[in-house]
Amino acid sequence: MGERAGSGGRGAELRRRAAADPVSFWEEQAGSLSWFRGWDRALDWNPPFARWFAGGRINASHNALDVHLGRLSGKPAIVWEGEGGEERTVTYGGLHGTVCRAANALKSLGVGRGDRVAVYMPMIPEAVAAMLACARIGAVHAVVFSGFSADSLRRRIEDSGASVVVTADEGRRRGSAVRLRDAVDGALAGLPGGRGPVRHVVEVRRAGAPPPPPRAGPGPRRWSWDELLEAAPAWCPAEELDSAHPLFILYTSGTTGRPKGVLHGTGGYLVHLHSTFRWAFDVRDDDVYFCTADVGWVTGHSYVAYGPLLHGATQVMYEGAPDHPGPGRLWDVAERRRATILYTTPTALRMSMRPGAGVPGGRDLSRLRLLGSVGEPIGPAVWEWYRDEVGGGRCPVIDTWWQTETGGIMASALPGLEDAPLKPGSAGPPIPGVRMRVVDGGGRAVPDGRRGQLVVDGPWPGMMLTLWGDDERYEKAYWSRYPGSYHAGDYAVRDGDGYLRLLGRADDVLNVAGHRLGTAELEGAVAEHPGVAEAAVCAVPDAVKGEVAAAFVVPSGAAAAGDLRAGVAETVRRRIGPVAVPAAIHVVPALPKTRSGKTMRRLLRALAAGGDAGDTSTMEDGGAEAVEAVKRALSGGA
Ligand code: WT7
Repeated sequence: MGERAGSGGRGAELRRRAAADPVSFWEEQAGSLSWFRGWDRALDWNPPFARWFAGGRINASHNALDVHLGRLSGKPAIVWEGEGGEERTVTYGGLHGTVCRAANALKSLGVGRGDRVAVYMPMIPEAVAAMLACARIGAVHAVVFSGFSADSLRRRIEDSGASVVVTADEGRRRGSAVRLRDAVDGALAGLPGGRGPVRHVVEVRRAGAPPPPPRAGPGPRRWSWDELLEAAPAWCPAEELDSAHPLFILYTSGTTGRPKGVLHGTGGYLVHLHSTFRWAFDVRDDDVYFCTADVGWVTGHSYVAYGPLLHGATQVMYEGAPDHPGPGRLWDVAERRRATILYTTPTALRMSMRPGAGVPGGRDLSRLRLLGSVGEPIGPAVWEWYRDEVGGGRCPVIDTWWQTETGGIMASALPGLEDAPLKPGSAGPPIPGVRMRVVDGGGRAVPDGRRGQLVVDGPWPGMMLTLWGDDERYEKAYWSRYPGSYHAGDYAVRDGDGYLRLLGRADDVLNVAGHRLGTAELEGAVAEHPGVAEAAVCAVPDAVKGEVAAAFVVPSGAAAAGDLRAGVAETVRRRIGPVAVPAAIHVVPALPKTRSGKTMRRLLRALAAGGDAGDTSTMEDGGAEAVEAVKRALSGGA
């Protein structure tokens, strides 16, 4: 402690106003955006459904692009670096043109207000352009991470009812091609009639591979992004949308086998991003902001596609893996592109901290002035390494806590707002205008310094509208356990200064390298392998990725353990995607169960983490044998 950050001195006064009247406070913040029509009411709150700035009309693409034209037309919006070293600079004027054409192209394919468009793209500027094009015409983008499989894509297309898929022929990852075209074909093949709701596929020809020959039958029509945009008019008006108009669906893992389609609106979401981007990153005109998140996750929505563009900032977009071709790639990009603000994950930092990695040593990172972390707990040691080795001891390090559901940052030190002390390993206080508490099972605040569940009291502007097509699940998953409060699903500790230290998920959600995966979802995928009679998945601490998944499988037949392991890995890769393949797959004769027949995951987690079994008083008779078998499997004896 003792370190202070920030140029802002307005913090105390702002926080006072925010605490006294959060809704008027957010109303004041909303004045920073460009509205076609002012709102009638700052907030309609029918718990747990919030409609911010009701009656107001706004457009996300207009606020990200049009408001900057003229003054910033020639300013780089996106400085892109491909994994192979290629580079492209897209100016605000250029991006505006592309987005207008893409919006018109989508219109020509019949896409209108409220229609869903699946975006399955690598990290290329067209991914952002596709999202903004949807926003421009009021279509709802549903971005699917390109590390998810054909099967995952198919389920998300089906659930969202997307009529168009925007994709690329290939992405690049660790030197090899990611065949997105094949995945899209696979997804379509699994849909009713070979297309389900999909009428058109628009493909960016990233690798320049020739398009596949048109197929007979009722499949969707395929278009080249370039050709379609070339034929489209260069100007497209931004639709004047209701503030609560849905902007996007983003699927995220929960505690059941079925991912949740988190639905975000427009006005409230943009206000949250505009404010938090400024408070957290203290962005100035000449900054070069570099966020390493993929557009497939929420950070890539809020703090790549929207936040920086709302501020007319220049950002670096890097296509590939942070450790390709060597462990220092991230630092090479930061140095070469003269990044001043870096926003990345603890996993990326721990990859660089590995003995022998020798990074960022030797690179000139003297332009960096602010460092951010997101996605998983950052322990004090990693925090200090980030500050000293990356930031040269000069840069404030902020740890930002938030979730897909919250839309934007909820807790963080805010150097752009106030001169607040930074505490290694602690995310900081809630942002102004947001009230959070740490509570016990009964919803009562626990004393400072004690662990409890993190809740948010009342609505905030960036909060989701609902879960796509499932208001009931939305209420039940987030608002039923602590009535009136949003249940985040994380453990946290509050200190005497109101700073929150995050301790990881309190539910059956895994956080692998900052990627969110559900235990039930993984178990479902593992159990799809015909050689598996029963499966359990749990999180195991990992020195680099924070957590990894360990699977325990009970075979149904006599297959060799090695074959079963390979088969299970392949099944998960096919069903969810490469990101989800468990780090370890243990073949065991039985799973430890309670007397009521429930798998004792907590026990498996304790054993897999190298601890002992703990309290086994609820275990069924004969469970001790299962425990012994698990121990043998973990020590490599099975
Ligand atoms: C979960 C949300 C936030 C965008 C990326 C992840 C964990 C997130 C932190 C942090 C400790 C964090 C939580 C949260 N998480 N940020 N700064 N410190 N944990 O979004 O996929 O919706 O995952 O990520 O467990 O619940 P997400």
